[in-house]
Amino acid sequence: MMRTALVTGANRGIGLETCRALAKQGISVVLTARDRRLGEQAVAELAIEEPAVVRFELLDVSDEASVLDCAHRLEDAGIEIDVLVNNAGVYPEGKLLEPEGAVAMEDALLANFWGAFRCCQEFVPGMVERGYGRVVNVSSGYGSFGEGLEGPAAYCVSKAALNALTVKLAREVKGDVKVNSVCPGWVRTRMGGPGADLAPEDAIDTIVWLATLQHDGPNGGFFRDRQPVPW
Ligand SMILES: NC(=O)c1ccc[n+]([C@@H]2O[C@H](COP(=O)([O-])OP(=O)(O)OC[C@H]3O[C@@H](n4cnc5c(N)ncnc54)[C@H](OP(=O)(O)O)[C@@H]3O)[C@@H](O)[C@H]2O)c1
Repeated sequence: MMRTALVTGANRGIGLETCRALAKQGISVVLTARDRRLGEQAVAELAIEEPAVVRFELLDVSDEASVLDCAHRLEDAGIEIDVLVNNAGVYPEGKLLEPEGAVAMEDALLANFWGAFRCCQEFVPGMVERGYGRVVNVSSGYGSFGEGLEGPAAYCVSKAALNALTVKLAREVKGDVKVNSVCPGWVRTRMGGPGADLAPEDAIDTIVWLATLQHDGPNGGFFRDRQPVPW
């Protein structure tokens, strides 16, 4: 049975490589981005050959109406999402008590937490109803209390909140639906910068693993290199 995955923030970086890898595994992919031109260009660049299908949908996860519109368009097209990769993310810097701290916090929470949460609200009920689903929340070690919440404050808070969402949603879902968080490592993307350890294609293994977990796979965990990360 061909599964369908939706990946957010997929016009570049880790999201784009995740789409490529999932399509290569024969999963039908909905590549989403908040910019139509960049998203359509990304689909064209992937040049995935049949029978794999990659289609573009406009989705700004920070915009509630955009999340709803995307869900409605997919519903109208009869497309059911089996795998949701909440990858879209921003990395705003600025100290909490400086004036830009509030803007950073709002931006980070809207995209990194609220966006993932709203996408879960739209797509996970269908998974539960059909008895199968995989949700992968692309988090960060910077959201780990166990690793010291290193990194810019707003980003850390948003990824810690995303991890809490993983734990709580994993407890709420039923059937063969699994919700996990992943830290991809330090990756050479626009966010990670040119000095980072990993190329995007080498950073997606754990994301793809969690997106395609077997029935006996973990639920409610946080992983890097397929190994648990402390919360
Ligand atoms: N790179 C690292 O070292 C690293 C480490 C740990 C975790 N992560 C996480 O990995 C994920 C992907 O990051 P990346 O490294 O691939 O960064 P990236 O190259 O900066 O890509 C981020 C993607 O998210 C999209 N995005 C941002 N806000 C969005 C919104 N409101 N709606 C829809 N899309 C939005 C961007 O779209 P635009 O092109 O329109 O801006 C872009 O496609 C993020 O969640 C990040 O926190 C990255």
